[in-house]
Amino acid sequence: MPLNIVILAAGKGSRMLSSLPKVLHPVGGLPMLAHVINTGLSMNPNAIHVVYGHGGEQVKSLLTQYKINWVEQKEQLGTGHAVMQAIPNIPDDDTVLILYGDVPLISEATLQQVVENSETNKLSLLTAKLKNPSGYGRMLRDMQGQLTGIKEQKDASEDQLLIDEVNTGFLACNAGLLRGWLALLGNTNAQGEYYLTDIVEMAATSGIEIESCFAAEEAEILGVNDRKQLANIERLYQTRYIDDLMLKGVTLLDPSRVDVRGQLNAGQDCTIDINTLFEGEVSLGDNVSIGANCCIKNAIIGNDVVIKPNCVIEDAQIGNASTIGPFARIRPDTVLAENVHVGNFVEIKKSSIGQGSKVNHLSYIGDTEMGSKVNVGAGTITCNYDGAYKHLTQIGDNVFIGSDTQLIAPVKVEDGATIGAGSTISKTAPANELTLSRTPQQTIKGWDRPVKKK
Ligand code: UD1
Ligand code: CA
Repeated sequence: MPLNIVILAAGKGSRMLSSLPKVLHPVGGLPMLAHVINTGLSMNPNAIHVVYGHGGEQVKSLLTQYKINWVEQKEQLGTGHAVMQAIPNIPDDDTVLILYGDVPLISEATLQQVVENSETNKLSLLTAKLKNPSGYGRMLRDMQGQLTGIKEQKDASEDQLLIDEVNTGFLACNAGLLRGWLALLGNTNAQGEYYLTDIVEMAATSGIEIESCFAAEEAEILGVNDRKQLANIERLYQTRYIDDLMLKGVTLLDPSRVDVRGQLNAGQDCTIDINTLFEGEVSLGDNVSIGANCCIKNAIIGNDVVIKPNCVIEDAQIGNASTIGPFARIRPDTVLAENVHVGNFVEIKKSSIGQGSKVNHLSYIGDTEMGSKVNVGAGTITCNYDGAYKHLTQIGDNVFIGSDTQLIAPVKVEDGATIGAGSTISKTAPANELTLSRTPQQTIKGWDRPVKKK
C-alpha cells in the first residue's frame, strides 16, 4: 500500500524555554525534525505531511529543501486533533504512519516493522516496557493479552498506573479506518484534548485486530521536552554515530570524546584523537591522523594527511600528505595542494598553496596564490587589506621568503625570487633575484645605556 507519513510537530515545547521552536533544536547538528523527515524519506512514502503550529514560518523556512505537505494546526487541541488536520489529504486506501517531530532517534528498521504489522487492515502500535512508565499512556490488555485501549497518565486509575507497558505514540494503519475513528473522537478527559490514543479502544470494540511491537533500541522512542532530554538524546545520537564510524574502520582513541555534527566520511585507517569536533560535511582520505582538540568543518582532507593538535579548519581542502599544525587555523576558501606544510600559529585564508610549499611558523597568508616549493619564513604577513578592499598576493614557484617579511598586496613575487628577511615588499620582486628592503645596520660606538640617578 502507498505510504503517507504524518509527523506531529505542532506542540509548543514550553519546557525548552526557547524562542526557537522545539523541533528545530539540533541533534548532531541537524534540526530534530529533519532527522525524523530523513528517516521518513528512507521509507519511500508517497507524501510526508508535517503538522505544524508554533513558530511554523521559522520551521518551514529552515526545511525548504524537503518536499513536505505542510499542514497547520492553529490550536493545539491534542494529538488526535493534530492528525485530523492532515487526514483530508490522504486517500482511503493508503497506509498512514504517525511520527513525532520531537522523537528524533526512531530507526527505519523499527518503522518498517510497524508498517508491516499494519498490513491486512490491522492497527499497528509501537509500545515499550519501561522501568519508570510515569508520564506515558499505559497499554490496556485483556486476559488473552489482546490490546483493548490506552489510558493517559492523567486519566489512569491507580491500578492502571502500575502497568509498565507504555504507548510510544508511533502507529500505522489504513487511512480509511483512521478517518472513521478520528471523526468519532471526543475530548471529555482530564486534559480536554482529542486524544489520538482513543482510536485503540474504537478499533478493539469494532473487532479490528491490533498488533504491537517493540523498538529495537529503547533510545529510539525517547522524546525531547527539555534541554536535559535534548542533551541525553545528543549523547545517544553521538554514541550511535561514533560506533558506526568504528565499525567502518576508523580508530577513535576515546569514542566518548569525539562529536560529529553533520556527516563524516573516512577512508581506511584514519585515527582521531580526543576532543575533536567535526561539523558539516567532512571527508577524510586514507590514513589520516587527527590530533587532539581539532575543530574541522566542511573540509576535504586527502590521504596521509597529519593534523596535529589544536587546529581549526573550515571550508578548506587539504591535499595528500600535507601536515597541519599544531595550532594552525585554515580558514574558508583555502586549497592546499599535496605535501604542504603549515606549522604552528599560522593562519591561512582564501589562498591556494602549491605542492611542497612550507609555511611553518607564525604567519598570516590571506588572498594569496602561492606556487610550489615555496619556503615562507617565520612571521611573514600578507598585508591583504587596505581598510576598504582586499588585494591579491601572487607568489611563484621556488620562492624563498625570509622571516618577518610583509608583502603589501597587490604584489607579486616571481618564480625563484628570494626575499631578504625583515623586508617590506610593495613592488614586484623579480624572478631569480634577491630582493630586500632593509635599513642599513649601524653601530654607535661608545654609547652608554641610560641609568637611574641614585
Ligand atoms: C502522547 C500520547 C501518550 C504517549 C506519549 C509518548 C496522546 C493522547 N498521548 O502523550 O500516550 O505515551 O505521547 O510520548 O496521544 N502535538 C501536536 N498537536 C497537538 C498536541 C500534540 O502536534 O495538539 C504533538 C506534539 O508536538 C508532540 C506530540 O504531538 O510532538 C505528542 O504530544 P504531547 O503533548 O507531548 O503528548 P503526551 O501528552 O506526551
Ligand atoms: Ca500532552
